[in-house]
Parts: sequence; C-alpha cells; structure tokens
Amino acid sequence: MTKPKVWISRPFFPDIIDRLRDHFDVRAESEERAFSAAELAERLADSDAAIVGLADRIDGKVLEGAPKLRFVANLGVGYNNLDIEALTRRSIGASNTPDVLNETVADYAWALMLAAARRVGEAERWLRDGQWHGSRFEGWLGADVHGKTIGILGMGRIGQAIARRAAGFRARVIYHNRSRLDAALERECAATYVEKASLLAQSDHLILVLPYTPENRHAIGEAELKAMKPTAVLVNIARGGIVDDAALARALAAGTIASAGVDVFEGEPSVHPDLLKIENIVLSPHIASASRDTRRDMAALAVDNVLAAFGHGPHAGRPPTIINPGVLADAS
Ligand code: GLV
Repeated sequence: MTKPKVWISRPFFPDIIDRLRDHFDVRAESEERAFSAAELAERLADSDAAIVGLADRIDGKVLEGAPKLRFVANLGVGYNNLDIEALTRRSIGASNTPDVLNETVADYAWALMLAAARRVGEAERWLRDGQWHGSRFEGWLGADVHGKTIGILGMGRIGQAIARRAAGFRARVIYHNRSRLDAALERECAATYVEKASLLAQSDHLILVLPYTPENRHAIGEAELKAMKPTAVLVNIARGGIVDDAALARALAAGTIASAGVDVFEGEPSVHPDLLKIENIVLSPHIASASRDTRRDMAALAVDNVLAAFGHGPHAGRPPTIINPGVLADAS
C-alpha cells in the first residue's frame, strides 16, 4: 500500500522526523528558505500532510493547488500564517504548538527586557568597537527592573509565565487582556488587571504577548507610545505588525520611550531600516522559543499531531493540539 506523503518545509531534528517514516513517505526540505505561494502549491500538490513554519503562508490560493491535503502542522503557537477558515472549509485539520514553549518564551521576554533596560547590546557594541579606554561612573546608566512595575499586554499562558517570574525581582505586575483572568489565577500570578490606558501610563516595562489578529494590528502605534513613560522599555515578543515599527523607531529616536527589545517585525525577515539605525534597541531574529529543548518539543508535538491525524501513535485519531477540531467530526 502506498504511504501518504508528508512535506516538511524546513529541516529539523532528523531523529524526530524519523518517527514519521513507518507511516509516511517523508519529503523534508534540506534548507531553510522562503517559499512563494506558487512554490508552496507545487510542493503540496500531492501531499497528504505538511509540517510548516511561521513564514509559510497557507491560504486559500495555496490550498487550491493541494487537493489531497488533510492536515497541516504549524511549528509555532501563533498561527496567523494559516488561513484557518480556508483550511476548515476544505476539512483540512491544522495544529499549532501551544504550552511546550511557554516557559522558554517567558525566559526570553525577561532576557530582552533586562538587556534593553540595562543597555547590554549598546554596551557590547561599544566595547567590541574598541571604545573602552577608561570607566565613567555615569556611563551606561540604564533602568532597574527589580522593584518596578511590569506591564503585560495579552495575558494568556505565556503572559502568565512572564508574570510569575516577577516575584524574584520583587516587581509589581499589571496586565490588560481581552478578558480578565479569574481571581485565583490573578492571585497566583500576583497580577492586577488594568485598562489599556492605565497599563500604558503605569508600566515601567511593557511586554507585548498578544496574538496577531487584524484588530491587533498596530495596537502599539504613535499615540500609545506617547502615552508611555519616557523612561519605559517596550518588549515585543508577540508578532510583527502588533507594533507600528516606523512609529517605534521615531519614538526611540525622539526619547518618547527609553528603549525597546524586539524579536518580531512587520514584514520579517525584513526589518524596518530605521530600527537598524537606532542604538537604544535590542533586536533579535524571532528566536523567543529557540532553546534546544523547546524546539525539540515543538517539533515532536508537530509530528505527534500529524501521526494522530492519520490514526497513529498514542493520540491516534485525536491530534493533541488541533486548532479546528470540527474537521474531525466532519471526517467521522
Ligand atoms: C513563535 O512566534 C510562535 O508563535 O511559536
């Protein structure tokens, strides 16, 4: 019997890919690269399943060229690269990788916040540039994180993991979210709910963790940046497009806010050229979940979902993190 075909859009841990081979004809790309819609459609033309990355946009147009496709596993928790409506209309299941990355992404939010507040990137560039000839007592003054007010916009599981870390820094946590957490969870996270305007006004350091939706586009733009403290640090580990990057560059250059730590960009892998010219920002190439352990866990979860969608493995028939479970009912 011919095995179903699974296409994997980027190379990852061979031992984890090997778990698919008993049941699938596996075609894995050997290099990391961007695919146009036509290239995606071409690769999916005779695929039954796919494991894709966040840069692969799977929309209705691509799906027109993928008549056999039954399941798409996304290597990431955010899935704004997948048109879930178009997938569901065609009864194609889709999964993401929630939870396995919460703690790692929360660590990274703190890393960016601390690095931006304490000017780690700027200081390192200066040192590497051979400029360290003596020490200036008033040099490299940054902002404290301990004892300050940390604001979190978007209080899902990653936001909650970020909040829990604040206890060790004796920092106060305020948050805003579409819906308020229940009282027990607020207590556990030691986080206080505030309106968005108060969050902007009170936060010494503001971390963005909200999912990308058209409504969240430019949730932080010129007006919001102006509403923040001039000493504030802004951290974006959520999605490109949630911040208006051009407005952020202007705000950092003008001293509207003090600094920023940014892992995600509008139109990445392109980065707004004005952000690249600015010193008071720490930039990284969308790596918040990139610890060795967590990337392995994400890959394993994607593979588990594909196996389960085709009736294999411990979750046979029930992909553990399916986004559109209604398609399973359609299929039964
Ligand atoms: C990373 O951005 C993810 O969504 O997992």
